[in-house]
Amino acid sequence: MGARVRMIARVAGRYPALLALLAQLCAALLVAGLMALAMQLFSWRPSGLAAGLLLGLLAASFGRWFGLASWWWWLNLGFVPALLLFSGAALPSWVFLLGFLLLLLCNWNSFGERVPLYLSGARSRQALAELLAQENADFRFVDLGCGPAGALLWLARRFPQAQFVGVETAPLPFAVAWLRALPLRNCRIRYESLWRTDLAQFDMVYCFLSPVPMAELWVKASTQMAVGSLLISNSFEVPGVPAGQQVELHDWRRSRLLIWRMPGAS
Ligand SMILES: C[S@@+](CC[C@H](N)C(=O)[O-])C[C@H]1O[C@@H](n2cnc3c(N)ncnc32)[C@H](O)[C@@H]1O
Repeated sequence: MGARVRMIARVAGRYPALLALLAQLCAALLVAGLMALAMQLFSWRPSGLAAGLLLGLLAASFGRWFGLASWWWWLNLGFVPALLLFSGAALPSWVFLLGFLLLLLCNWNSFGERVPLYLSGARSRQALAELLAQENADFRFVDLGCGPAGALLWLARRFPQAQFVGVETAPLPFAVAWLRALPLRNCRIRYESLWRTDLAQFDMVYCFLSPVPMAELWVKASTQMAVGSLLISNSFEVPGVPAGQQVELHDWRRSRLLIWRMPGAS
């Protein structure tokens, strides 16, 4: 039973959209129950929009409780009210085309790479900061697949003497990351596949990808990374190569940082 719950938690943690859906379903059940109660006790039925707003608020709170990143709060909050508002409106077809294009620009590479976009949470950032604080102040750090670079920029502001690089191949997250990094002197974003990034340039290599590329990434890292440099994977293991150190993040997803100190190029 416990193993099944853990498996569901792991799957949901890797696919946050599933968690968001679960949050919406829980909220819908609760609102339906409350509406039935209000009808029975007070013969009162709230308007569709009021019920939708309550549902959005509950779904956002469930999502937070399940450990979704903070930007999901707004998606969960607005999803049902927006459906209700727009269902009566005759929207031009370009709105749907635009929605599709936005989705495509965010997940451009996930069909080939099977690495969707989800973000390092606050606990991951904090744990990373604690790790980085133990290194020389002028270290070089790369985030392989930096997304919109929330985690990267947060770290770059905390370690002004270090150099930070993010590489990303999904066009929209890349554009957002590139613009956000402009004011920072110690952080640069490249439109570059992680498979083309020369890892020898970095003292610390961070990735939050998926189980799919980890074996190949290990081969690349052990070929390119210098002796003593760190490979840090958020949650995803390298098959057959146990991490030298693990930092539990104690979140709902049971995330952890897996850390390998590289033995040197082979
Ligand atoms: C799970 S997200 C992690 C985002 C960010 N590193 C963080 O921790 O918040 C993985 C990112 O890797 C990007 N990605 C996938 N394959 C890539 C590749 N070959 N080169 C560069 N980025 C890639 C995806 O577009 C996505 O933005």
